[in-house]
Amino acid sequence: MSLLEINNVCKHFKIGNELISVLEDITLTVDKGELVCLLGVSGCGKTTLLRLISGLENPTSGQILINGSKYKIKNKTVNMVFQEPRLFPWLSVKENISFGLKGNYDAELINYKVDEMLNKLGLSSYKNEMPYKLSGGLAQRVAVARALVTEPELLLLDEPFSALDSITKKSIIEDLLILWKSLDFTIIHVTHNVDEAIMLAQKIIVLKYRNSDTEFFDANLAYPRSPESDCFKELKSKIIKSY
Ligand SMILES: Nc1ncnc2c1ncn2[C@@H]1O[C@H](COP(=O)(O)OP(=O)(O)O)[C@@H](O)[C@H]1O
Ligand SMILES: [Mg+2]
Repeated sequence: MSLLEINNVCKHFKIGNELISVLEDITLTVDKGELVCLLGVSGCGKTTLLRLISGLENPTSGQILINGSKYKIKNKTVNMVFQEPRLFPWLSVKENISFGLKGNYDAELINYKVDEMLNKLGLSSYKNEMPYKLSGGLAQRVAVARALVTEPELLLLDEPFSALDSITKKSIIEDLLILWKSLDFTIIHVTHNVDEAIMLAQKIIVLKYRNSDTEFFDANLAYPRSPESDCFKELKSKIIKSY
């Protein structure tokens, strides 16, 4: 059974008197443990699709199943990281990361889990800092830590690294790959950057603008991947042609 099943999903929005169709008849599956990138131009509906998967929005029609059943936000199977870090400005790094664990575990276990995640994301020395002091890259690391510490089965990443410089982005992507290999979770990473998708993904889904057609690419290259390699360039040119 797939972890995620999206069956004939449509999403329409009403703006003024106009009904706009953002997603039309999307069907796709994601298996447990996969690292999938969803690519597409701005406005094609990538964020809308993630919001539907996370349960923040309901589809106009069609069905989204997680582990075979309709997802309910309270079961914490899914967690999402947004384009902006959205940290709580009044809480320290450590308090931000522990926020979602409060009430579910005792204080000692929360401390242990948070310290482990701080360490895995290279944040230990910033744990008592307030968010306003953090660079964009560090703030997004905290946002990723806050999502992962709750041990979601499915992590949704909505272009969280798009505002970062290329060196900072590369280092976060490398750490994310290490985490994905060592912990048992599934990722759907949204980006409009083809290189970023090929650096990360096992499977790439291109979502087309307007008609919501989807095209799938297997990215079976060994990690770590180099944009200079022939297979990287070949896959990139195939993906760009599909837009
Ligand atoms: N809540 C909403 N109400 C009305 N229109 C929306 C809403 N959310 C998204 N849209 C529209 O849906 C389209 C796709 O948006 P989005 O999913 O954010 O695209 P992407 O993430 O691919 O850039 C855009 O035209 C956007 O204006
Ligand atoms: Mg978006």
